Amino acid sequence: MTEILTIAVSKGRILQESLPLLAQAGIVPVEDPDRSRRLILPTGRAGVRLVIIRATDVPTYVQYGAADLGITGKDVILEHGGAGLYEPLDLGIARCRMMVAGLPDAAREPGIRLRVATKYVASTRRHFAAQGRQVEIIKLYGSMELAPLVGLAHCIVDLVDTGGTLKANGLVPLELVAEISSRVIVNKAAMKMKHDRVKALLRELEAAARPGDRDRRSRRCAGAGEGL
Ligand code: ATP
Ligand code: PRP
Repeated sequence: MTEILTIAVSKGRILQESLPLLAQAGIVPVEDPDRSRRLILPTGRAGVRLVIIRATDVPTYVQYGAADLGITGKDVILEHGGAGLYEPLDLGIARCRMMVAGLPDAAREPGIRLRVATKYVASTRRHFAAQGRQVEIIKLYGSMELAPLVGLAHCIVDLVDTGGTLKANGLVPLELVAEISSRVIVNKAAMKMKHDRVKALLRELEAAARPGDRDRRSRRCAGAGEGL
């Protein structure tokens, strides 16, 4: 009997960008994940199923072996800490930067204890500790850009891609914390027990994620669009 491989994929933009890569490995969910209410989706590849969950839950499912592999952002892995996981592959999708940002004159006053609003508490603490700066961290769950505007914090640590959200709120990027992209993570026990299947899948996803393959894929998509 084929052993089952369970892959946990982050909902939202990572799922959208992962689906074409997974499809190249024959992993196509049997139902459209955006419409389906099923939490476990079988796929067109024998013995491979997807669970589609919140980004922040992916490392937890993989750490405890509820999923053998996962696809999630480096930001989420940094916060989780990586216990029980291998991180063998950078898919190069959902790229952005984790940055300190604030009002243009933020945090320049010497002597003040900086208040930083973020959902990335661990990464923020590490970033400022590496500079020998003690900061007060205020945990938020979203819309971080609001915090400096209403005096909740001097600055924020959040993800920046185009910079459009910062700009729309009169904020500027101040310091780079980390370059972010989506990674494949693997449960340590699954890497041993299901070694051949996991390795084969990683090789296929690596090939799909190579820049040349990505370019060819997007040219195919553009071509398909022109034909409509
Ligand atoms: P949740 O709903 O679980 O809180 P979320 O709203 O942060 O998650 P998404 O916005 O889909 O969910 O982001 C998921 C992941 O996508 C992030 O963890 C990060 O790795 C990546 N990401 C987030 N924002 C951007 C962005 N602007 N550009 C590129 N990648 C991003
Ligand atoms: C992310 C992030 C920033 C924004 C940055 O938010 O939290 O707010 O993207 O992208 P930009 O630099 O291209 O403007 P997202 O769009 O995921 O919204 P949410 O976190 O509020 O769900």
